[in-house]
Amino acid sequence: MDKLKIIGNGPLEGDISISGAKNAALPILASTLLSPEPVTLRNVPHLRDITTTLDLMGRFGSRFELSDNMSLVADNRDITELRAPYELVKTMRASILFLGPLLTRFGEAEVSLPGGCAIGSRPVNLHIEGLKAMGAHIDIDEGYIKARASRLRGARFVFDVVSVTGTENLMMAAALADGVTVLENAAREPEISDLADCLNAMGARVTGAGSDTVTIRGVDSLHAAEHRVIPDRIESGTFLVAAAATAGRVRIRNTAPQFLDAVLQKLADTGAHLETGSDWIELDMRGRRPRAVGLTTAPYPAFPTDMQAQFVALNAIADGTATVKETIFENRFMHVQELQRMGADIELQGNTAIVRGVDKLHGAPVMATDLRASACLVIAGLAADGETLIDRIYHLDRGYERIEEKLAQLGARIQRVPAAAKAAGGRAVNH
Ligand code: EPZ
Repeated sequence: MDKLKIIGNGPLEGDISISGAKNAALPILASTLLSPEPVTLRNVPHLRDITTTLDLMGRFGSRFELSDNMSLVADNRDITELRAPYELVKTMRASILFLGPLLTRFGEAEVSLPGGCAIGSRPVNLHIEGLKAMGAHIDIDEGYIKARASRLRGARFVFDVVSVTGTENLMMAAALADGVTVLENAAREPEISDLADCLNAMGARVTGAGSDTVTIRGVDSLHAAEHRVIPDRIESGTFLVAAAATAGRVRIRNTAPQFLDAVLQKLADTGAHLETGSDWIELDMRGRRPRAVGLTTAPYPAFPTDMQAQFVALNAIADGTATVKETIFENRFMHVQELQRMGADIELQGNTAIVRGVDKLHGAPVMATDLRASACLVIAGLAADGETLIDRIYHLDRGYERIEEKLAQLGARIQRVPAAAKAAGGRAVNH
């Protein structure tokens, strides 16, 4: 397995471009299955999760024309397979997003239950209950969700927990259902609105996306469309936190400041100077140490859980003590023990981390456990003295496009270290 070697090298300086949003591109790719005509997508990020999605859709019969400027055409005219197998679903839980589109367009679908995940149990009961409310017959058999419906019918469904992909799955299922579907207590993330925009471009009739009540008027079929994926707000936030943690000055381009209000507020609270334009954000922390900032994660527009680990890294070297509370996932502090190996002073009390800032972290060998924990360790390595070697960085590649290239552009001393070649014939053996 590749590793990332980082040598703390002082402030990050310069500007980088943000890629398309992973968590918008994934549901939007799934939504192209709803149309028998080609759908053109632009600003699709080059990420492992995207490659996994294209591989899985290829098994269904999807055909793709990829161009080198992050655009692709998805052609789903000849879908012959309606089953998402465990060996692929286990590598990417977002595969659950194929359930709604396949079921509503073809009347049946089989998707492996995603199984456990490092950050929490992450059940999909709401996806299943919502589809049942729309008339689907669903069996759970041999680890697979087996769904059938001659035609789904519109229904009113109340989410008892706000679910991002749950909202997305039911929006897609409702697009071709007979009648009107109303989703209450729906997720409000920008990625939901982006999916709605793409569905409407394909001829769907979705209103209210971005609010907690989304209404979908079913139609008989969808058609060809073009759509540009929104910028990745979590990649944006990650780079801004890295700039703050190294007392640097960084401008991020091709982003969307309006999606980051809660994060920008917290960064301002650390003492960072922030400037924003229509599609750029500049953070300046030169010559200053961040102040500790407490936070509580919650559904959008509140502070995002996907930025929690990054802020724990920032607080680890901040002036003061911060209380960080995680309310979305039950096990999303695995980065803490790795940070402690680097000298961080953090105490865990259930779903709360008490972070006492230290003057400096020191580099150490650490292990990535999930996507955003990996980003946290990169930030800690950039701010630390000495060398940090991060193992299992395949987690990082799922959600960050060419992160070491982008950070090197900002002056970071960072390189990807290929898995050590085994003695036998010098062949590189991946563990
Ligand atoms: C999405 O995951 C994101 N993934 C996650 O980003 C993100 O952390 C999460 O939303 C929360 O914002 C994608 O969009 C592909 P949820 P999702 O359903 O949809 C419970 C990353 O780093 N729940 O909103 O799987 C669940 O256990 C990833 O990019 C149920 O109880 O999350 C959790 O406690 C990590 N039953 C809460 O809801 C269900 O049927 C929120 O989960 C569904 C969810």
